[in-house]
Amino acid sequence: MPMFNRRTFLQGSAALGGAFALGVAARAGASPDPQVLTAQIADARITAGGVTPKIMTYGLGDAPHTSMPPVLRMRKGEAYAARLVNRLDEPTTIHWHGLRIANAMDGVPEITQPYVYPGDSFHYVFTPPDAGTFWYHPHCNTLTQIGRGLAGVIVVENPDDPAFDAEIVLNLRDWRLGSGGIFIDPFKPRDAARGGTYGTVRTTNWQQEPVFDAPAGGLVRVRIAATDVTRIYTVALEGAAANVIALDGNPVGVPFPLDRLALGPGQRLDIVVQMPESEGQIATLGNYRGSHPWTIATLRAVGASLKRDLRDIAPLAANPIAEADLSTAKRIPIELTATAEHKATPSICGSLGYTFWAINKVPWPGDTPDPIAPIEELKLGESYILQISNRTPHAHPIHLHGLSFRILNSNKRTFLPPPTDTILLLPDEQAEVALVADNPGDWVIHCHIIEHQKTGMTSYFKVV
Ligand code: C2O
Ligand code: CU
Repeated sequence: MPMFNRRTFLQGSAALGGAFALGVAARAGASPDPQVLTAQIADARITAGGVTPKIMTYGLGDAPHTSMPPVLRMRKGEAYAARLVNRLDEPTTIHWHGLRIANAMDGVPEITQPYVYPGDSFHYVFTPPDAGTFWYHPHCNTLTQIGRGLAGVIVVENPDDPAFDAEIVLNLRDWRLGSGGIFIDPFKPRDAARGGTYGTVRTTNWQQEPVFDAPAGGLVRVRIAATDVTRIYTVALEGAAANVIALDGNPVGVPFPLDRLALGPGQRLDIVVQMPESEGQIATLGNYRGSHPWTIATLRAVGASLKRDLRDIAPLAANPIAEADLSTAKRIPIELTATAEHKATPSICGSLGYTFWAINKVPWPGDTPDPIAPIEELKLGESYILQISNRTPHAHPIHLHGLSFRILNSNKRTFLPPPTDTILLLPDEQAEVALVADNPGDWVIHCHIIEHQKTGMTSYFKVV
């Protein structure tokens, strides 16, 4: 195993993180009973072609588990605890994507916590400040670990949310399977240097084109998370009316009809669907990106009509995300570029063996002197404007941990979504996003096309 020069540097932040974590647990009162999430290897039937050996999933407790990681339910403002038990044969961690929680709970090995080695466990405890749809996944050897199944949806409930007649949670992802359902190479280098390598089997909740029953004439909240390592979806619904109510966990100010909406890896979409009136009628959620639309999931009306109306649903309450002070905000340029190939540094969390991408000209990890420096040190409580420029002909879903930001402007869009943790930058897009650095710690920023993340398009901010 290679030793990291930057270990000493990082030990400092790990020690600080530990102290901070204790503070959080104390503030939240008695720690709740942890949900035990056991990362494990199993066999699962994903395609009709055969059982796929060696998928990876999370199960609750000790019992072996052979399907999708559970949907985790938390409550806004209430402490939540999970104990990750590692029964894989490699190190892992859990990152709680989109949750603005303490740095020590963020799940990034070397930066916020130690590796969780096989047979070990790690106790996570935090209080989600925002309600909405989020997700969880490892932050170690992610092309393999997420690619083989480790990605689950988080629902943070707000007890004040309006009443829906049903809720359906959809986890969208692909699998790289060959004949007989066997895993094939997780990526092709020439695709990693472009838009990323696509899976061969598309699933929703680990099923192909599943059908869900929902009350006829009812209002159904559908929570959609794009957890695939590569695919950008263009989501639309046919056969029923639907309003967009939240994007990336955050409520839209005024719900608007779902037309065609792009959803990149890591992003979430909450819609309310008004189900067709008669039993047996269907609505089809589809992907319209590319020339051949295909079905993500089908909703089938059952029972006598509830006769609800989309207008029955009031907008969801906004999450408590601070408004940046644009008059004092410092501007920070962030340039996304391709990079010359460097010799990739071996990593305990897996290296793809290439660098193709860079943030501000620095590929991660690459030929940079250790320790790796942050993009910038942000002052706790200050406002910042990130001027993000995509200098590539590919889209990049850029995700920032621990802090949510608002998109102020862009040369490619007129609709400005609510605050987010993940912006899907279009080819050649330049956007300004604003944030308040109100969460101390080291926060990673990276592309969520995992091949891009793992071949250089990663960096971090330090908030002190
Ligand atoms: Cu969803 Cu750094 O990850
Ligand atoms: Cu990318």
